[in-house]
Amino acid sequence: MKLIDGKAIARKIQEETRASVEALKAVGHTPGLAVVLVGADPASQAYVRSKDKMCQELGMFSIKRELPADTSQEALIELVRELNADPRVHGILIQSPPPAHINERAVVEAIDPRKDVDGFHPINVAKVALGDADAFVPCTPLGCQRLLVESGVETAGAHVVVLGRSMIVGKPMALLLMQKGLGGDATVTVAHSRTRDLAAVCRSADILIAAIGRAEFVKADFVKEGAVVIDVGINRVADPTSPKGSKLVGDVAFDEVAPKCAAITPVPGGVGPMTIAMLMHNTVLACRRLNSMS
Ligand code: GUN
Repeated sequence: MKLIDGKAIARKIQEETRASVEALKAVGHTPGLAVVLVGADPASQAYVRSKDKMCQELGMFSIKRELPADTSQEALIELVRELNADPRVHGILIQSPPPAHINERAVVEAIDPRKDVDGFHPINVAKVALGDADAFVPCTPLGCQRLLVESGVETAGAHVVVLGRSMIVGKPMALLLMQKGLGGDATVTVAHSRTRDLAAVCRSADILIAAIGRAEFVKADFVKEGAVVIDVGINRVADPTSPKGSKLVGDVAFDEVAPKCAAITPVPGGVGPMTIAMLMHNTVLACRRLNSMS
C-alpha cells in the first residue's frame, strides 16, 4: 500500500506558484486574494486563516474579512462589489457554507466570474462542463485530479466512483474525470447516499473518491483489492485519548481500508493541503488573465 503524500505534492505546487508570483511581481503585478467569512464557525475560521497565511508565505496580497454572523445579504453583496472593483484583488472567495439567512447562490453570482477562483459562479460551472480551457475549476476536485496525476495513477479507461454529488466536489470531480486528456478519460459513476447497494457500486471502482461528508463512512467492504482511494472528507470526531478531546478523520475508515488499497490518501495530509495549493494556483491564473497575460 502506497500512502499518497498530499502535503509533499502540495509543497511542490506551492513552489511553482511562488516562482509565478515572483515573475508577476517583477513586471508590476502582485496576485491578490480576498477571503470572506461570515460567522464564527471554528472550522471555517481555521480554513480562512490558513488561506490568508499561505498568501503571505507566497508573497501574494491578501485581504481577510471576518464578518459577524448577522451580516445581511445586501451588505455581503456590497462587499463583493467592492472587491470586484478593487484592482489589488484578483481572486474572491466567500467561505462556504454561510449562515442560513444568506442566499449563497445570489452572493456567488455577484462575484465577477474572472475573479471567481473557487469556480462556483454559473459561468465557470458551465465552462467546466463545456471543457473550456479558461474555466476556473473548483479547488478540491482540481487538487484530487492533480494528486492522481502526480502519483502516476492512470485514470484513462479506469472505472472511477465518485461518492458524493455536491457542487463543491462530487459534480465537478465527475466532469473533470470524464474529460479528454491527462487525468481524465475515465468511466465515471457518481454514487451518493440514495444509491442502491452503495457498497457494491463502490467495490466496482478502480479509483474511489470519497466525498460524502460522513466520518469513516467507507468501510473495507466498499473497496476492491488493489483500488486507489482518495479521501476528501474532513470530519472532527470525539477522541478521549487526544489532549484536545477530538481528532480529524476522513470519509474513509482508514485503518481497515488502507491494507486493501494500492494507494490511499491520509487525513489530514492528503487532499486538504492540495485544496489550498490549487486556490493559490487559481489566484495566480486570475491575476495573469486579468492582466491579459494568458
Ligand atoms: N468550504 C469548503 N470547501 C470550500 C471551498 O473550496 N471554497 C469555499 N469558498 N468554501 C469552502
